[in-house]
Amino acid sequence: MSSAFDPTSEANTVGPAGAAEPRADPVAWIRDQVARRLDAARGSHAWDHTLRVLRLCERIGTVEGADPTVVRIAAYLHDIGRSVQDATNGKVCHAVKGAELAGPLLADLALPPACRDNILHCIRTHRFRGRQRPASLEARVLFDADKLDAIGAVGVARAFLFAGEVGARLHCPEKAVADTRPYGPEDTGYREYKLKLTRIRERMQTREGRRLAEERHRFMVLFFERFLDEYDGRC
Ligand SMILES: [Fe+2]
Ligand SMILES: [Fe+2]
Repeated sequence: MSSAFDPTSEANTVGPAGAAEPRADPVAWIRDQVARRLDAARGSHAWDHTLRVLRLCERIGTVEGADPTVVRIAAYLHDIGRSVQDATNGKVCHAVKGAELAGPLLADLALPPACRDNILHCIRTHRFRGRQRPASLEARVLFDADKLDAIGAVGVARAFLFAGEVGARLHCPEKAVADTRPYGPEDTGYREYKLKLTRIRERMQTREGRRLAEERHRFMVLFFERFLDEYDGRC
């Protein structure tokens, strides 16, 4: 079993270094591999999102008593399949694809088979819209960390960043949200808020994740109330 989380650790704060060896330092080696692959990712799911998820995983994982090595490696790898989902406009599930891509990377690491299986399970089950649910503690920690980065101030910012990436407008008030389509001009930040972000709080998997989600949810609701007021000229 690895040592406890260290919030000042290099893995938490530093980007790609390129010198790690897979068997000597599995966490750093995976970090380097993923940093290179996410270099060209869209801004809403780029390397900085992965690092925020890592930091939240370390925070929640410490409170919940999760295995730090499993959680760190899973956090680095969790969105490795995202570019495939984006390229297919959502037809391929990036969580399933990510687990497929992660398998060969994990094969070189000096980890017990149960740890490898758990990491793959974490990746496969981290998606809000995914079919499979997180069953291990580490998978629940990753799920919560990833969802926390989708709500609150950062979540609002990412929702509009994603909307820009797919060519959406700021808002699409002439059409009911339920009738709008994803990955196009109607895929606004407000659409994401109504269809997904408002429901995240009730889907959190850990006590610490729920606590953090309550705070972020409150801020997000206030933001969108104000957004609509300003959009319609009420203030
Ligand atoms: Fe993801
Ligand atoms: Fe993510």
